[in-house]
Amino acid sequence: MNTPTKVLVTGGAGFIGSNFVLHWVEAGGSVVNLDLQTYAGNPENLASLLGNPRHILVRGDICDASLVAELLRQHRPAAIVHFAAESHVDRSIAAPDAFVRTNVNGTFTLLEQARRHWSSLSDHERSTFRFLHVSTDEVYGSLKAEDPAFCETTPYAPNSPYAASKAASDHLVRAYFHTYGFPALTTNCSNNYGPFQFPEKLIPLVILNALEGKPLPVYGDGGNVRDWLFVGDHCSAICNVLEKGRLGETYNIGGNSERANLDVVKTICKLVDEFRPNPAMGPREKLITFVTDRPGHDRRYAINASKISAELGWQPSIQFEDGLRQTVAWYLEHSGWVQNVRTGAYRDWIRRNYDERVAQ
Ligand code: NAD
Ligand code: DAU
Repeated sequence: MNTPTKVLVTGGAGFIGSNFVLHWVEAGGSVVNLDLQTYAGNPENLASLLGNPRHILVRGDICDASLVAELLRQHRPAAIVHFAAESHVDRSIAAPDAFVRTNVNGTFTLLEQARRHWSSLSDHERSTFRFLHVSTDEVYGSLKAEDPAFCETTPYAPNSPYAASKAASDHLVRAYFHTYGFPALTTNCSNNYGPFQFPEKLIPLVILNALEGKPLPVYGDGGNVRDWLFVGDHCSAICNVLEKGRLGETYNIGGNSERANLDVVKTICKLVDEFRPNPAMGPREKLITFVTDRPGHDRRYAINASKISAELGWQPSIQFEDGLRQTVAWYLEHSGWVQNVRTGAYRDWIRRNYDERVAQ
């Protein structure tokens, strides 16, 4: 699929979705963007597209079947790129209901309406239509230090309510391809970082706390490992899968950048010290505070991305240390954006999640 093409994006006001929308429109394509604008959805991420006729932002719910059907009928997109989800593991532990609603029921509603729409298309449109489901490596569970990285055939073993809801949605997508021949593809990606990530997630949370001299909460012993990928590289992988991916296949996407959380936090401290030295505060590493672990905390994720590399020629282009430097600089330069997302609801979450975590 070559741009310019019209796509329906769900969740395109969130972190990865908004990066994707900006990328797609920049490349000449157009987007109908269906987003409920939950606490994580932020139209400010898309401010540079204001007035651009190639981006239409619709505030609505993927669980609303008639809205989804109407958007498909009206706009006839060539593809659906499905990002919309509840995405934060700690919130899924505190309140799983919304995760089942959006990630499972919402994906089902979207799939069913998309299948009906696809069945009504002309032979040519039906043959080129695509549904790309954006999923996560967390469906595979947790690795031990010596285990090989997750590949596409690794058995599913989701451990958090978030991961279980994403696994359920992956299975629905698989079943729609298998049963109806519906032209679906799934991507399972590792941890993303970069501009516009909501500061409930580790990297932006630590950048902002370090800047302000607040404690840097590290769960457990800080030895949990994640495989970090710059968000722009995730977007380019999705474009590759849309264009060249084989129908019904899943593609793992990862950054080849396994890092322990404590090392990530220390690197951020050094970068913030460099960009915003504060002799009165001293080195930011002093702010690191080990706190009560996340229940059921997965120890290690790592992605084997050899399938997407061999079949589609995709590789990550940004080294973790370079991407992290760019990301720290972005948060420091966008204090207005930061201020606007740290509303009362955000402060409530931070209180709920961290007040009960005892310093270890
Ligand atoms: P995010 O939480 O930043 O954004 C989610 C977006 O979905 C928000 O804009 C929100 O308003 C919207 N949304 C939520 N419920 C909705 C509903 N019922 N109807 C319509 N819109 C709704 O999430 P993200 O980090 O950008 O993740 C996007 C997708 O990528 C998710 O499916 C997630 O599982 C997957 N993923 C994320 C990562 C990561 O590291 N962030 C890695 C791999 C996969
Ligand atoms: O692996 C892909 C997944 O990555 C995505 O599917 C999820 O949507 C995304 O949120 C992310 O999940 P994680 O749980 O890995 O990301 P998070 O930023 O919440 O945490 C990263 C690691 O840092 C994890 O081991 C928990 C730890 N952590 C997190 C927070 C918020 C801390 O030590 N302290 C914290 O305050």
